[in-house]
Amino acid sequence: MKTDPKRMDELSKNAFAPIYPLIARQIVSATGIKKGVCIDLGTGPAALSIALAKITDLKIYSLDIEKEMCKLAEKNIFQEGLSEVIDVVQADVHNIPYRNNFADLVVSRGSIPFWKDLSTAFKEIYRILKPEGTAYVGGGFGSLHLKNEIIKKLEDDEYFPKNFPPKINVEKLESTIIKSAIKNYTIKNDDSGLWILIEKD
Ligand SMILES: C[S@@+](CC[C@H](N)C(=O)[O-])C[C@H]1O[C@@H](n2cnc3c(N)ncnc32)[C@H](O)[C@@H]1O
Repeated sequence: MKTDPKRMDELSKNAFAPIYPLIARQIVSATGIKKGVCIDLGTGPAALSIALAKITDLKIYSLDIEKEMCKLAEKNIFQEGLSEVIDVVQADVHNIPYRNNFADLVVSRGSIPFWKDLSTAFKEIYRILKPEGTAYVGGGFGSLHLKNEIIKKLEDDEYFPKNFPPKINVEKLESTIIKSAIKNYTIKNDDSGLWILIEKD
């Protein structure tokens, strides 16, 4: 299953728009990371990268496997005047084009269900994290209130939710993380969504 770039761009600017600033604040509050290098995996139209850039001093690399999504991300970043701060890179999460210990922060929202080999992806995330770096990856709408508002707004929508992948199975996710030899992790499954925090020691 693939995400339609134009539709995702439209959603990120309308029904989904309020979730990104909230999730960005939740990331900063949970990780305490406001400077250094951040990688946003499966960035789509780059709404989370943009929200993070607005409240931090991070240098952000926004990665997506789809060329058209990268073009939309670049356009949105340019329109926000953030082209100096955010670089868009077409890349696959299974083969992240950065050296070991590169990133202070790795984030990702709504992309995991599309990853073909979760174990390889998590090993890659761990590999590029700096010692004492943190990953905050998963999916959700930031709060139950926003989730319910989005569901209500998109009730009669042709595309949503039938074109969105099923929720990730938490047990499967946890066993994959363990298999990937990641020891220091927390799974947060609450009103903000399902998020995995990984720390590299
Ligand atoms: C549902 S969209 C979420 C976009 C964005 N993170 C957001 O929350 O608005 C999922 C994104 O993951 C990207 N994606 C899927 N598989 C990927 C992979 N293997 N590597 C990098 N990006 C991927 C898709 O192209 C798509 O842009």
